[in-house]
Amino acid sequence: MNLTTQYLGLTLKNPLVVGASPFCDDVTMAQRLEEAGAAAVTMHSLFEEQIDAEQLALTRHVDATAESHAEATSYFPAHSEYQLSPDQYLLQILRLKKALSIPVIASLNGSRPGGWIDYARRMERAGADAIELNLYRLITDPAMPADEVEAGMVATVRDVTSSVEIPVSVKISPFHTSPTFFACELERAGAAGVVLFNRFYQPEINAEELEVSPQLKLSDRSELLLRLRWLAIISPHLRGSLAASGGVHAAIDVVKALLAGAHVVQLVSALLQHGPQHLAMVLEDLRAWLAEHEYTEISQLRGAMNHQRCPDPAGFERANYIRILQSWRI
Ligand SMILES: Cc1cc2nc3c(=O)[nH]c(=O)nc-3n(C[C@H](O)[C@H](O)[C@H](O)COP(=O)(O)O)c2cc1C
Repeated sequence: MNLTTQYLGLTLKNPLVVGASPFCDDVTMAQRLEEAGAAAVTMHSLFEEQIDAEQLALTRHVDATAESHAEATSYFPAHSEYQLSPDQYLLQILRLKKALSIPVIASLNGSRPGGWIDYARRMERAGADAIELNLYRLITDPAMPADEVEAGMVATVRDVTSSVEIPVSVKISPFHTSPTFFACELERAGAAGVVLFNRFYQPEINAEELEVSPQLKLSDRSELLLRLRWLAIISPHLRGSLAASGGVHAAIDVVKALLAGAHVVQLVSALLQHGPQHLAMVLEDLRAWLAEHEYTEISQLRGAMNHQRCPDPAGFERANYIRILQSWRI
């Protein structure tokens, strides 16, 4: 059974990648994931705000805590609250590269051009095999038009990709008016792949205390459906790689993501819930499923259910939407 897949120009031994998360903060944990069969690991993100705050602190010789900055930044964590400082992050890349034989993907998190982008080059120098750029940004300004937001993101991607030789993937949100156009724009800006999708951690309101609390809820498998739809729509139009992130918990989820057009899937919640050994189980079940269905390599699956052969993808989606709404009888 040939499980190898190409992702961002890297040859991976199988399509199971550990998604950006705290797993790689601990080298022993990363080794356990490699032993369980992970084909690559993604580090947690280094944030634009974290880098900017540290650079400001260095130039002003102040502690980059909430109170030492302008009001707008006072919501952000203080220096000490981040798992790794920017320097420690680079050191961690070195440590992971020394301990692992699978590719290590570093993650940068920001959406506007700026000095923080220099960290892409530093990550490359530290030995990262690729960079995943997470463009997380929630727009609340009523005067900010969508095309301006996306132009800023594309410029950021261009700045990052032009500053390094290693491949750069871009993790995007599902909330773009035209995700396929946007993904193609990212590719034109030099991205070697796109990760679908960012997961938004929605705040909860405590009605008694009149407080807002951000909460971290792990994913469930229903979240994969949104990824499958957009993998199927986007994959015929991209030359580069596609990763599914969100709701991949079992081998059958991997199969569906590949059928829809993914080159790899990323797992986080399932591994946080069940531990690194869960990855070995998913891999074993994937092998069994492929053998049972007489596939000899996963490239036979890839994109078999995407929109490539659909003459009118938008019409197809609209027709399904109407059919579903009409199917409910009182
Ligand atoms: C505890 C935790 C930490 C995460 N940290 C990051 C991060 O630093 N950068 C990032 O791009 N995504 C981060 N994510 C998001 C995951 O990479 C992934 O996109 C998301 O959890 C959906 O995948 P899943 O359904 O397999 O959990 C984090 C997720 C969790 C649960």
